[in-house]
Amino acid sequence: MCGIIAYIGEKNSVQILMEGLKRLEYRGYDSCGLAVMAEGAPYCVKTTGRIINLEKKLANVNISSRMGIAHTRWATHGKPSEENAHPHFNKDHTIFVIHNGIIENYAILKRELMKLGHPFSSETDTEVIAHLIEEFYDGELLPAVLKCLDKITGTFGLAVFHAEEPDQIVLARRGSPLVIGLGRNEMLAASDVNAILRHTDKVIYLDDDEVAVIRRDGFQIMSLTQETVYRTPEKVEWQIADTEKDGYPHYMLKEIFEQPETVLNAFRGRIIPEEGVSKLGGLEPVIDQLKHMKRLIVVACGTSYHAGLLGQYMFEKMTDVDVDVEIASEFRYRNVHPHDGTVVLAISQSGETADSIAALREARRKGALTLGMVNTVGSTIARETVAGIYNHAGPEIGVASTKIFTSQVVILALFALLLGRYQKLSMTDGAGIIRAIQQLPEQISHILDRADHIRAIAQKYYKYNSFLFIGRMCNYPTALEGALKLKEISYIHAEGYPAGELKHGPIALLSPHCPVVAVCPQDSMYEKTISNIKEVEARSANIIAVCTEGDDKLTEITRDIIEVPATVEFLNPVLCNVPLQLLAYYCALYRGCEIDKPRNLAKSVTVE
Ligand code: F6R
Repeated sequence: MCGIIAYIGEKNSVQILMEGLKRLEYRGYDSCGLAVMAEGAPYCVKTTGRIINLEKKLANVNISSRMGIAHTRWATHGKPSEENAHPHFNKDHTIFVIHNGIIENYAILKRELMKLGHPFSSETDTEVIAHLIEEFYDGELLPAVLKCLDKITGTFGLAVFHAEEPDQIVLARRGSPLVIGLGRNEMLAASDVNAILRHTDKVIYLDDDEVAVIRRDGFQIMSLTQETVYRTPEKVEWQIADTEKDGYPHYMLKEIFEQPETVLNAFRGRIIPEEGVSKLGGLEPVIDQLKHMKRLIVVACGTSYHAGLLGQYMFEKMTDVDVDVEIASEFRYRNVHPHDGTVVLAISQSGETADSIAALREARRKGALTLGMVNTVGSTIARETVAGIYNHAGPEIGVASTKIFTSQVVILALFALLLGRYQKLSMTDGAGIIRAIQQLPEQISHILDRADHIRAIAQKYYKYNSFLFIGRMCNYPTALEGALKLKEISYIHAEGYPAGELKHGPIALLSPHCPVVAVCPQDSMYEKTISNIKEVEARSANIIAVCTEGDDKLTEITRDIIEVPATVEFLNPVLCNVPLQLLAYYCALYRGCEIDKPRNLAKSVTVE
């Protein structure tokens, strides 16, 4: 999704902006550009495609500049083209704007501005901002930006400069993240803290409807009505090294291999083994409301939604809570009535997913207590929820979510355990669950040690164009997640199904041309799943089975066996998911796909 980076200081701004753009690449984009103030005159360059194209354009240009803005665009209004790439500017090229979000009333504004003689050079919604600011400009940028914001509806993360006021950049936020980075004699701003981490770890996250002015030696934050906002800077807990590949060919592989550590971080300091219970500091302020809650609605998208589905099984097992898991983009438009005491939990790696934020706001409007589970500290969901839990899993750069999924599942287990111990779970059962959780990091390492075996299976199957993934009960979400991973990075068509549902339709797809990945650990559904696998076998489809170590029955059915260590039923998905991540990764590798930046996908989906 679109990315913003802005710099004002004493260093070469072009270099800093280009480096920042590269750190935003993982979010997904189709064009990019920058505008800087260079020795009294602005200089703007844009391109379609990758940042390397921008580098080529800049290769023979010698610019000395100490301030500027740059952007990666993910097309919403207008195709990916040089004209539609940001920055956008007014007719005499004095005002330069980069923007994340969507201006909903841009068409009306554009018509009015055109009547007033403003020539438009792009199809974007963003360009109206540059012309509108020009319309209001009377020698000072900030009042003109404020007047412009008063006219527009929609969402924005915005950075603007005016060539005649080169000592400042104006920022504004509504619904699209923006963070200010405080350096020594320099200030930065970005839509994602990764873009500025090399220069400073002291940051201030802007809230919705806030405007900021950054200068080389200071900053000022205010509301849209110009009331000063005082905010203490925060320290980013991630290091720059966390955002590097560390010798791995892809971020995705690095992140898959980080899982013993990220799963450990998910429960470190959060369990009390002798009492068979967990403690989640972030939920302490609302624990009295949670203890006896009866209904939980989880809202999430994509992989985070799959984690939520797994949470449902855990809560059923350990608590008296009724759990509904909702796709956030649907929930936001439904008319769900949270009864008294309903709690709504948004699960989101980025904490910035527009649909999840909207679902959360809808729930809050209707009176639900809102909680968040996010990985990104300071993100919108973290700030807009009453209480929550952080993943503490470090930055996830690969577009396909891996380490955060397993971390989310473990944290959901801790959450269910916490409530379960106030409700129906015994201390002995709680202690057993904790023991199983504690074993996970080592068990994941054991699976990762056998990555070459999974690579060999991928080599055998990567040319197939369609896969089915099946599983039952808590391995149904595992199947959904396995299929999602395969399709998003290898572009192989893949569907996840509850194994018992095969006979109601998907069985028609079975043939030697459609391999079936069967998630079948030895749990309460084992025998039933074996029967479903037999149905597959009878239709001559190739079977890849993910099963518990030492399973003899499945070795009789297929030679393509991936074994995982034994654990408690509802933690099987954590272990079974790891080889499916590797399977997707290696299939994509053999197919020559761009693994960390799959086509059309964005890491953080900040528009609807
Ligand atoms: C898939 C993936 C996406 C995200 C989804 C929600 O690998 O990463 O499906 O899970 O876009 O994102 P977050 O968790 O940031 O809300």
